[in-house]
Amino acid sequence: MRHRTGNLLTDNPELYEARFPDPEHLAGRWAQDILCRHGAGPTVLDLGCGTGRDAAWLHHAGRRVTAADLSAPMLAHARARHPGPAYVTADLSRFDFGQRVFDAVVCLDSSLLYCHTNEQLDGFLRSCRRTLVPGGLLVAEMRNGAYFLGRDEPATAPAVSRFTWHGTAYRSTTALRVDRAAQLLRRTRSWTADDGSPPVVEHSAWRLLLPQELRHFLTVHGFDVLALHDGPGPRTEPAWQPGAGPGDTADGDRLHLVARKTTVDPARTSAAEPANPATGEQP
Ligand SMILES: C[S@@+](CC[C@H](N)C(=O)[O-])C[C@H]1O[C@@H](n2cnc3c(N)ncnc32)[C@H](O)[C@@H]1O
Repeated sequence: MRHRTGNLLTDNPELYEARFPDPEHLAGRWAQDILCRHGAGPTVLDLGCGTGRDAAWLHHAGRRVTAADLSAPMLAHARARHPGPAYVTADLSRFDFGQRVFDAVVCLDSSLLYCHTNEQLDGFLRSCRRTLVPGGLLVAEMRNGAYFLGRDEPATAPAVSRFTWHGTAYRSTTALRVDRAAQLLRRTRSWTADDGSPPVVEHSAWRLLLPQELRHFLTVHGFDVLALHDGPGPRTEPAWQPGAGPGDTADGDRLHLVARKTTVDPARTSAAEPANPATGEQP
């Protein structure tokens, strides 16, 4: 039996691509642009790769790509429709490729935010650090916690969307709720279809990370932040276009991260300790 995640779009990758088309391959091109700008070597690990379309774009751009996801339907679709990369099952919050190392890790469209807890984030960054070459890059693109935590509740009324796919009319109702204590954006989405199938109710959540909080996690785990900004990116309005450089604000609804693995072992640094606990002197 195929593993099902309980998420209609993740379980139906064709439908996912139909709902979130990227005909200009903006996400893949944006990632490739960042990797080139920062001189990354050819090997890339795409975590939470979904349908595989970005991994395949990077492959066709000349990179050697391994792409990982937890969803069996996504991986099956990726292997069939977006060949080139090596597709593997892995949990981005704790993965281990043994002796294999990569020049870069990419994590697109909020995949990183499936690390809901601090422990999962620690596991993700520890795994990334272990899996990257010295000086390797971490490139991520995601929702911006500052945007959601810093405002009143988003979209108070549930958003309704209708579309037809392969002759079936679908209707989805989506409600978002900010869970401030857990720093999670919780989504409830109800689906109905006119093909006689029963209604489906899904619950998803994304971690809401503040930019400075993310910087701290990265520093503690031995990464230098090279860029952290709200756009332009592949999912911003206006969208990133080739040649566009990084912005200098972090207030919009998307966050774009470029970080480099330092050569300093974080276990040997004092990032989490006061400089002089013996004296405790204040300036
Ligand atoms: C929003 S999709 C993004 C897919 C792709 N990166 C893109 O930009 O189109 C998030 C993906 O993360 C995967 N995912 C969720 N939790 C995961 C985990 N713990 N480990 C690996 N993949 C995970 C889901 O199966 C899904 O394919």
